[in-house]
Amino acid sequence: MCGIVGITSNKQVTSRIINSLKKLEYRGYDSAGIATLEEGIIKEVKCEGRVDILEKNISKININGEIGIGHVRWATHGKPSTLNAHPHSSEVVSVVHNGIIENSTILKKLLEKKGHQFKSQTDTEVIAHLVTDYLKKNNLKNTIVKVLKKLHGSFALGIIFKDQPDLIVGARRGSPLAVGYGPNENYLGSDSYALKSMTNKVSYLNDGEFCLIKKDNIDFFDTKGNKINKKILNLSKNDQSYDKGDYKHFMSKEIEEQPTTIKNCVNEYVDKVNQKINIYNFPWKINEIKSLVLVGCGTAYHSCMIAKYWFEKNSLLEVNVDIASEFRYRKLKFKKDCLYVFVSQSGETADTYAALDICKKNKMKICSIVNVVESSIARDSDFVLPIHCGPEIGVASTKAFLGQMLVLYMLCLKISFDQKIINKKVYVQKIKNLLLLSKLIKKTLLIDNKIQIISKTFANSRGSMFLGRGYSFPIALEGALKLKELAYMHAEGYPAGEMKHGPLALIEEGMPVVVIAPRDELYKKTVSNMQEVISRGAKVLLITNKSKDEIFSENIWETITVENVSNDLLPFLTTIPLQKLAYYSALEKGYDIDKPRNLAKSVTVE
Ligand code: M6R
Repeated sequence: MCGIVGITSNKQVTSRIINSLKKLEYRGYDSAGIATLEEGIIKEVKCEGRVDILEKNISKININGEIGIGHVRWATHGKPSTLNAHPHSSEVVSVVHNGIIENSTILKKLLEKKGHQFKSQTDTEVIAHLVTDYLKKNNLKNTIVKVLKKLHGSFALGIIFKDQPDLIVGARRGSPLAVGYGPNENYLGSDSYALKSMTNKVSYLNDGEFCLIKKDNIDFFDTKGNKINKKILNLSKNDQSYDKGDYKHFMSKEIEEQPTTIKNCVNEYVDKVNQKINIYNFPWKINEIKSLVLVGCGTAYHSCMIAKYWFEKNSLLEVNVDIASEFRYRKLKFKKDCLYVFVSQSGETADTYAALDICKKNKMKICSIVNVVESSIARDSDFVLPIHCGPEIGVASTKAFLGQMLVLYMLCLKISFDQKIINKKVYVQKIKNLLLLSKLIKKTLLIDNKIQIISKTFANSRGSMFLGRGYSFPIALEGALKLKELAYMHAEGYPAGEMKHGPLALIEEGMPVVVIAPRDELYKKTVSNMQEVISRGAKVLLITNKSKDEIFSENIWETITVENVSNDLLPFLTTIPLQKLAYYSALEKGYDIDKPRNLAKSVTVE
């Protein structure tokens, strides 16, 4: 899950490669590197850490080629280090790679027997030596065809050659790759966003394809090396601001932006005049769909889990939810009357994409819910429902989670009405509730002082638990995930009713436990479970909503009360304290909130 970029030009490329790498850091940030070609010599600069460090290192060195490749890494084979940072070079080529070469160990042994010497612990270095080896007896194009055939696994590659002053080879299997067209120069990038400051004309490589990029021409080939034509697409010009503004972190900005992003998204789908939800050009008739499979990873998966409760309650559809990395290897019974929905903020998550691809190969109905509409998942779907929340930069997903829930909820309402499960009156009331949501989120956000104090206890504890029932169970999972990824703490999300079947043994004196118990139909049940953990010494933080009724439970450590809203919409509000809890716990510990250790914003390896 790395980012790659390449430029071939008649102007110097280093600073532009660095700028593009900064945009690709959402794919990995444990090391970075660049290689350029100058008068037949490949020059490399690499470092452990962020692109900022690479930039500083480069300022002390002359690296001024007019062709070059760059890389940001998220380590798979070999720890993050300068030595393992890309590009990896032999005496004749230099390679950047996103993905995993599954047969690298076997290939390495074969190449070592032939006298090739390796410097790093990476799978990528094998590619550099394999290309070098094939070039001895083959022309360049045949070399690429043969090398790609030898490699198992997934990859997006960028390769430059010592004796090719103007050529970058790009190749793709599994991992996405875009090609950009400029005046007297052309580009290669993991996504079009990395190229947007240089061009708005791009093409995308499909699986198995490769291309030869020169500054005034690009040729595309299929797996066998036959020339193919590519469509050139025009990207929208608006490059939304990636500025933190006055916020300390992107994450806090993104949390506070939620009233606006929710409002924007509601406005995109709700027709206020006719009081209905518009999903234009939905390609299927409502009676063609009998079931739903919702697929995602991490936070996106949690939004799918919540949607299951909504769809089951409000529609006739049978609903299944799956983690993409499991879905892709299961023996599935595909159904023609099933709609497969893939949820992904980035639209580039490798497992989610692979799951989609399986459905595509089986000719299923594919819908995606994404934030990045130019992404691979969006491009390969029959129908796309954008979440309209603008760029999300913080690795921890916040506003995208609310956006995903919102779009899933609106889809559910539309289906529910079209299936005549709810009548016009109920439908209109639910739409009215949606129109109020943004304001209620805004009010709920005003909890910083209290949550900041509470966070100190969490930050100083050994671990914590998050409990909920019904749609508060996925919210509990989401709260625990946020705390894990930001505060590096063990946090376990659990269905409240399941505690007595084992996890109750974990509860010890003073352990912080978050109980999400809004005043819905399961409130009393959850409160009983809360009492069980309190009796065993837990320090309970109760997340509930405002009510005239008293809370019939004693010895609650702290309570956070969110605004009142219809039961369906409670997950939008109960999420907010959990986002802030994770944020302030990480802040208390002094961790890197926007770029937590070991993670990346977009997970492009499986
Ligand atoms: O881009 P995606 O929505 O497909 O990403 C899926 C997960 O990798 C992502 O939600 C991850 O779990 C977040 N870092 C959680 O905050």
